[in-house]
Amino acid sequence: APDINVANVQAHLTQFQSISDANGGNRAHGRPGYLASVNWVKSKLDAAGFVTRVQSFSYGGATGYNLIADYPGGDENNVVMLGGHLDSVTAGPGINDNGTGSASILEVALQMRATGFAPTKHVRFGWWGAEERGLIGSTHYVNSLTTTDRSKIKAYLNFDMTGSPNPGYFVYSASGQPSGSLALQQRLQAGFTSLNVQTELTSVGGRSDHAAFARAAIPVGGTFTGAEGIKTAAQAQKWGGTAGQAYDRCYHRSCDTLSNVSATALDRNADVIAHALWATAA
Ligand code: PHE
Ligand code: CA
Ligand code: ZN
Ligand code: ZN
Ligand code: ZN
Repeated sequence: APDINVANVQAHLTQFQSISDANGGNRAHGRPGYLASVNWVKSKLDAAGFVTRVQSFSYGGATGYNLIADYPGGDENNVVMLGGHLDSVTAGPGINDNGTGSASILEVALQMRATGFAPTKHVRFGWWGAEERGLIGSTHYVNSLTTTDRSKIKAYLNFDMTGSPNPGYFVYSASGQPSGSLALQQRLQAGFTSLNVQTELTSVGGRSDHAAFARAAIPVGGTFTGAEGIKTAAQAQKWGGTAGQAYDRCYHRSCDTLSNVSATALDRNADVIAHALWATAA
């Protein structure tokens, strides 16, 4: 797998910040900053040869959008999906939550093309709308699939908050949620091990978009650097950072800006995403 250049991921985050700045300070469902985010990510993927589609849905009196991007080639009966939510809360620009996951999977997608990766399996990416309103976009997507198409998705990897400023290195526990995949958990752990980073397992339950896939019995996994939870002394020993403080003190706040991101955590997670995708889809 390629070593993802974190400067490229940071450049995508800068775009999300600019989009928020130009659209009233957020990228929330039903607000112009959300659709601008969709259109910008789509333009990058279109230029790289992905087959993109915008799926709209209606929620809370507004139109929401999912962006789906297929990498041409691979066995369409064996689909590996990566996703993350592209919407923010209305309080702020949502750069760590979830510009980070969105920008990281975008850069991994672009590097598939740049490196000429030709996986055996078919690879599809999803940027979900209205996660912050209750997993609305991802649920809409899963519900829109026929039973046959659903059964073709062999794995779903979710990335929501991968650059928390006081980071933890958490991998979704296979046993901590319905349809958790031990193979995906171990592949993500192996990625961190190859970077000499210790991890902990976390039970994120229904708190992000993987839950929509899990409900449809699709095997799921993911990584997370922490939200409102407090870093323990033992965690600060192994990961650095500040014990007794939240992983992300700006979680769901106006201060979730470009400065609210650990470049180290962002880089490590992006590298692990690439590692897991290359290993899963090859
Ligand atoms: N989904 C939560 C949010 O967007 C954050 C979160 C991500 C919580 C992953 C747990 C696990 O606010
Ligand atoms: Ca890297
Ligand atoms: Zn959130
Ligand atoms: Zn989130
Ligand atoms: Zn490996």
